[in-house]
Amino acid sequence: MQTTDQELIARNIEVHDKVARKYDTHHGEIFNPIEQERLAASLSSALDAVTTGNKPLKALDFGCGSGNLSRHLLALGCDVVAADVSKHFLELVSGRFPADRLSTLLMNGADLSNVEDDSFDIVATYSVLHHVPDYLGAVREMARVCRPGGVVYLDHEQNEGYWAGNDPVYGRFKSEVEKFDWKKFLKPSNYVHKVRRIFDPKHTNEGDIHVWPDDHIEWPKIKAIMEERGFDAVIEEDYLLFREIYRPEVFLNYVGRCTDMRVMAFRKRP
Ligand SMILES: C[S@@+](CC[C@H](N)C(=O)[O-])C[C@H]1O[C@@H](n2cnc3c(N)ncnc32)[C@H](O)[C@@H]1O
Repeated sequence: MQTTDQELIARNIEVHDKVARKYDTHHGEIFNPIEQERLAASLSSALDAVTTGNKPLKALDFGCGSGNLSRHLLALGCDVVAADVSKHFLELVSGRFPADRLSTLLMNGADLSNVEDDSFDIVATYSVLHHVPDYLGAVREMARVCRPGGVVYLDHEQNEGYWAGNDPVYGRFKSEVEKFDWKKFLKPSNYVHKVRRIFDPKHTNEGDIHVWPDDHIEWPKIKAIMEERGFDAVIEEDYLLFREIYRPEVFLNYVGRCTDMRVMAFRKRP
């Protein structure tokens, strides 16, 4: 039996509700100083490209999680609507940030039907599209709610080169960069997940849905949608993601020589 989009969304909500409180400590690939510095600089460039003239800029953090992007957008002077499918994440975010600058929005996981056209100066998402069954539909919705002169910012999704899997430099990087972590051998849950993956190759340690080589995020399709809807690319950058399990000296040796992630930002023509 085929799993429907509704079932996939419901599973993601359940899993994200469960992990909300522990999310930051479990995601060292996001909450590390190197990645946080890259993200801050990238978001700042995206905000520089906004030409709506509004002050403060109104931002939508699409799939806000525990508030990673919201924190950066607030620090950069925006007022923020933090949106997610998980009520537990929204409760967490409401308690973390000042209510006069941040409000929350519960999403249905499929569209932004409760949001009017042209509502935001910046619509930003980070590490979310690969959880959304109809991620191209999500991109269309982000384009719709972005004002003319505003920017749609899409970050932390693997690039085409990563999925092609044939860059020998990246292969060498991966074989050299990971620290040896003996603690992972002591975690019974790692063995349980390994066994579950034998029966379901798409099982993840957290149990949520992700994209895989056969159904991954396709950047050329995203670009085509944005162009069709009257947007121009203002940022198009491949980068190498720093994960907390990496040795910094090895990582730095490979920066600029190979990449695995892409960030893109598009501005809506006035
Ligand atoms: C990996 S987390 C990223 C969270 C946050 N953006 C960050 O930077 O840490 C993925 C987020 O996507 C949300 N999500 C899952 N399915 C979604 C859907 N169908 N539509 C919108 N958000 C979804 C999850 O609840 C979770 O907050």
